[in-house]
Amino acid sequence: MMTQIKIFDTTLRDGEQSPGVNLNQLEKLEIARQLERLRVDRIEAGFPASSKGDFEAVKAIAETIKDSSIIGLSRAVQSDIDTAWDALRNAEEPCLHLFLATSPIHMKYKLKMTPDEVIETSVNMVKYAKRKFSIVEWSAEDASRSDWDFLAKIIREVIDAGANVINLPDTVGYTTPEEYGKMFRYIREHVPNIDRVALSCHCHDDLGMAVANSLAAIENGVTQVEGTINGIGERAGNAALEEVAIALKIRSDFYPYETNLKLDELKRTSDLVAKLTGMSVQANKAVIGRNAYAHESGIHQDGVLKNAETYEIITPELVGVHSNALILGKHSGRHAFKEKVIELGFTLSEEKLNQAFQQFKQMTDHKKEVTDDDLFTILMEIQTNTSAIKKYQLEMFQVQYGSANIPTATVSLKTPDDHVVQTACTGNGSVEALYKTIAALIIEETNLLDYQISSIGGGKDALAESYVKVKVNGEMINGRGTAADVLEASAHAYINAVNKYLIQQNTVRKEVITSK
Ligand code: KIV
Ligand code: ZN
Repeated sequence: MMTQIKIFDTTLRDGEQSPGVNLNQLEKLEIARQLERLRVDRIEAGFPASSKGDFEAVKAIAETIKDSSIIGLSRAVQSDIDTAWDALRNAEEPCLHLFLATSPIHMKYKLKMTPDEVIETSVNMVKYAKRKFSIVEWSAEDASRSDWDFLAKIIREVIDAGANVINLPDTVGYTTPEEYGKMFRYIREHVPNIDRVALSCHCHDDLGMAVANSLAAIENGVTQVEGTINGIGERAGNAALEEVAIALKIRSDFYPYETNLKLDELKRTSDLVAKLTGMSVQANKAVIGRNAYAHESGIHQDGVLKNAETYEIITPELVGVHSNALILGKHSGRHAFKEKVIELGFTLSEEKLNQAFQQFKQMTDHKKEVTDDDLFTILMEIQTNTSAIKKYQLEMFQVQYGSANIPTATVSLKTPDDHVVQTACTGNGSVEALYKTIAALIIEETNLLDYQISSIGGGKDALAESYVKVKVNGEMINGRGTAADVLEASAHAYINAVNKYLIQQNTVRKEVITSK
């Protein structure tokens, strides 16, 4: 008999805490929709009290997503709980994730609270939260560095106060599989009312053991695993959910557990998260890396041709990796295009569909073979864009570059108030000249922090994809751009970062949480 393991995805909360990642509301909604398609049990949509932006995003997700339950993070303070309730009250099943640290170092230096005060606050806040939320998860932050007897004591009390789920995070990625497993076993053996709750694990990857620690927790009675897609998150990130899920599936002979996940949605989910966050997945990443199903050496290729199982323990189809099929071309009509959009998992309004079709047609002028990856990128851009806010638009650019002359760029932009402005600047290289020129035309103060360029798929007519991190008026924003040409993709990425800043300013101002 297989035990059901609930998957708690925190890509939009802990994952979004990755340095430099800054998703706007439309991007978060798109990821949440995909997590629902993946059949994640619980989506941690954000930390509503941390900023107006997070509040609005959690609220929009809670009102849109119906097949996964939506949970919001909250410190153990009444005002956070109230704010979370305002964001989550319209969810199908509003859930709250309350946390308070229990390790000696956190209690003494960060919270400046005695252990008794930590117990009292946790109990009071769980009781308060239970007046509103039907499901309350309580997390002992830095549990893996906490005293086990103290943990047993506080857990017993928060269960009596009404908590439904107890999460024991390895907040700093310090524990080992054996130690973490033993901690859960100890808690199960020393907390008399433990059967009234579900146990959850939450692992960070500082020592590269987050997935192994999560599996050890499952072996010791945990029925909920928290993690993120692609393992993104604070510092070294969180447990990669795709790895946990596939380990359980492939080694079901060893692990008698199953999840609700629709595993063939894993690749799409990974792609979407990578593209929207700008955190690309390393080629050799387990389960969804580009090389995970490539066999390079002759001996391996020979073995796989004779019997795939010689070297392939996971089939690409299981996780939704399909060969990058050649699809639509110059002569494809609207109907075929619409079918493809649905097949790629997008639900577009008529207006956005027209926009996408136009862009696809433009693409076929440069590119004979339009692949699933190309279309996925266009559709994702359109789906997460908004016409409601006036933005900068690239009208024209020209870059002169040669090994014997000074790189010079001329750019013409349409500003958010519909003026066309133009100027020219020089730089040390073509991208620098281009970015200096764009920066000179933009009112916002910008400073480039990171720049990446890659191709989507292969071939000489592959699309270029650029990612940038830009400080816009002091805020770190990431931007992305796609085009047939590398410089054009680079220009779009820079302008996209500034536009994302404008969208953010129009919706909210992000406030800094100082007391977390
Ligand atoms: O890692 C951690 O401890 C957390 C808590 C907020 C649950 O993310
Ligand atoms: Zn965490």
